[in-house]
Amino acid sequence: MADHARKINRDRLLEQMTAIARFGGHALRTDDLQALLQEASALAAKGLGVTRAMILEIEFEGQSLLVRAGIGWHPGVIGKLSIGAGSRSPAGHALQTGKPVASEDLDAEARFAVPEVLREHGVKSVANVVIKGGGRPFGVLEIDSDERRRFTREDIGFLQSYANLLAAAIDRLRTSRELAAARDEAALLLRELQHRVKNNLQTITSIVRIQKTLSRNPEAQRSFETLMNRLTALSLVHKQLYIHNGARRIALNGYLEELCSNLITAGNLGADDIKLDLRLERVVVPVDIASSLGLIVNEFVTNSMQHAFPDRHGTVMVALAPVDPGKVRLVLADNGVGRSQAETAGEPVAPSGLGLQLIKSLTGQIGGTIEWTRSVEDRGTEAILTFPV
Ligand SMILES: Nc1ncnc2c1ncn2[C@@H]1O[C@H](COP(=O)(O)OP(=O)(O)O)[C@@H](O)[C@H]1O
Ligand SMILES: [Mg+2]
Repeated sequence: MADHARKINRDRLLEQMTAIARFGGHALRTDDLQALLQEASALAAKGLGVTRAMILEIEFEGQSLLVRAGIGWHPGVIGKLSIGAGSRSPAGHALQTGKPVASEDLDAEARFAVPEVLREHGVKSVANVVIKGGGRPFGVLEIDSDERRRFTREDIGFLQSYANLLAAAIDRLRTSRELAAARDEAALLLRELQHRVKNNLQTITSIVRIQKTLSRNPEAQRSFETLMNRLTALSLVHKQLYIHNGARRIALNGYLEELCSNLITAGNLGADDIKLDLRLERVVVPVDIASSLGLIVNEFVTNSMQHAFPDRHGTVMVALAPVDPGKVRLVLADNGVGRSQAETAGEPVAPSGLGLQLIKSLTGQIGGTIEWTRSVEDRGTEAILTFPV
């Protein structure tokens, strides 16, 4: 007979351990705290052979305890009922002392008051353990028996293992919430900074515009105009910027589209008929690559507008496409008069603006290569740029 009883005991223990281990695995993975609390209270009750259990969460800086989860209670208890902390409840007593509290007979209890909810449900005995991990305690796990019962040291140990697993899961969720908040904060700061950079660029652009208006010299005016376009290309980058996994990235296609449309619209004066042919596939790049490419495209399109079409009629084409994995090709072309033979052959040219030099050095900066392919004979100018991403 004693053997039989021992075997039952052993089987029950084994069952309890298995349930705890399974719960522990789950607690490490899930992000759903409510479901976890619910599951813990149900498993703890089942493991100890009672029908009621609750998890109480500390609220209002420890003033009271909210029934966060549980089983065996009438409607209006879980998520709604809040009981006094301190000595006005067994759970409060456990929190105050920081130790498990078991009460075999609530009617004879002198250490704390018995909450109305326990009386209503006919609870006779309770056991409470504190749910506390590395930080401040979360609350209490309580087991409620409708029959008078003495909870053993093993019972309390069993309850405490659930509370500890819960505490670990709660700590983990708290930490990941705090990390997410910190990340949001950093992203916000970055956006703010971006905003300021953009505003500063816009302010500088306005100053240059005023200088241009004030200047009488046509050559100076043209220089100011060129500078304005370059500044605009840069400030457009900041407009299109978004933050992805903490990195500042840009959809190049959207950015180049806006940039080119602006340039063509501004360059088409009166009866001019210069068209834009955009063939842009989606390519996402870090912000510094985008700024360099923006300036390159700006110089090319500006040159087309300024030099390629003496009769003010033609098309500028910009094509962007990923090629081999990790490589992107940008084709810039116009069907205008073409650059002189001398220039395409790479010979020194008469002193001019910075445009072609900028294109060359910026291409080098992003680790790309550029090939100028068309000459005067087959009309127009074409540059094929390949760069790594
Ligand atoms: N798309 C083009 N079509 C015709 N000529 C061009 C084109 N791009 C550049 N050029 C020639 O190359 C010269 C150098 O261009 P660039 O370095 O941008 O200086 P800038 O535009 O200030 O003259 C231009 O003056 C022009 O003669
Ligand atoms: Mg130029």
